[in-house]
Amino acid sequence: MSQPKTSKKLIVANWKMNPLSSNIAVKHFEEIRKTANKLRNVQTVVCPPSIFLESLAKKITGHRCVVGAQDVFYEKGTGSNVGEVSVEQLKKSKVEYVIIGHSERRSRGETDEIVNKKVTAALKGGLKVILCVGEKERDHDGGHLDFIARELVEDLKNIPRKYFLNLIVAYEPIWAISNKGNGPADPHDVYKMIIFVRKVLARVIGKDFAMSVPILYGGSSNPDTALNFLEEARADGLLVGKASLSTDHFSKMLKIADKSRNE
Ligand code: PGA
Repeated sequence: MSQPKTSKKLIVANWKMNPLSSNIAVKHFEEIRKTANKLRNVQTVVCPPSIFLESLAKKITGHRCVVGAQDVFYEKGTGSNVGEVSVEQLKKSKVEYVIIGHSERRSRGETDEIVNKKVTAALKGGLKVILCVGEKERDHDGGHLDFIARELVEDLKNIPRKYFLNLIVAYEPIWAISNKGNGPADPHDVYKMIIFVRKVLARVIGKDFAMSVPILYGGSSNPDTALNFLEEARADGLLVGKASLSTDHFSKMLKIADKSRNE
């Protein structure tokens, strides 16, 4: 059976290829943790480059602020896979979450088939998966909706339903990522997209599970727009890139999320 969706907002820092050193990463994480640990209504996840995961994981105190990876490989355990990291290695390093299928990886050749293998391995291995989907551009004939539906269908196929308890979906329109000039998206539009994603999920993983999957928004969100995405767009949380690199901005977003209305 599925579980009711938690009312906590899920705020995820996606640090991408930042910062430069482990010292800076740890300092940054500790500052975020100080704020995050005080907030009852927010689950904070910090996703650093994999080289810093273990140092950050050692600094976790409690459950409110934990770490996640930005990717994972689908082969089990250990083996001859140069440059890759397995689910089991992440688990041993106390990593709880993993981002899979981010557009910056898909643009470098990660196909839906690979994403599906990674999602399957991560869910079966007990990680919480943040699956990223989103269109490159808008299409007046609704082509972008077909694109997102296809991503969800392909990325989630052949996975036993019980594993979807640990699934999170991040809707990240690619045109809105990294302040390219088009973003962030309009919250009302994001609201409609979230409903659309949930409808597709209902078809793919069943209505019960679909209702319990948190759906995040990602793409140039910042302290000025966070509340709109959480309240008007009714996102269950945010996947934050650039703004998460500023402790000040990210902490503000955590506090905004903590105070946002839940329903
Ligand atoms: P951004 O990145 O907030 O800098 O747009 C979001 C993401 O790529 O996950």
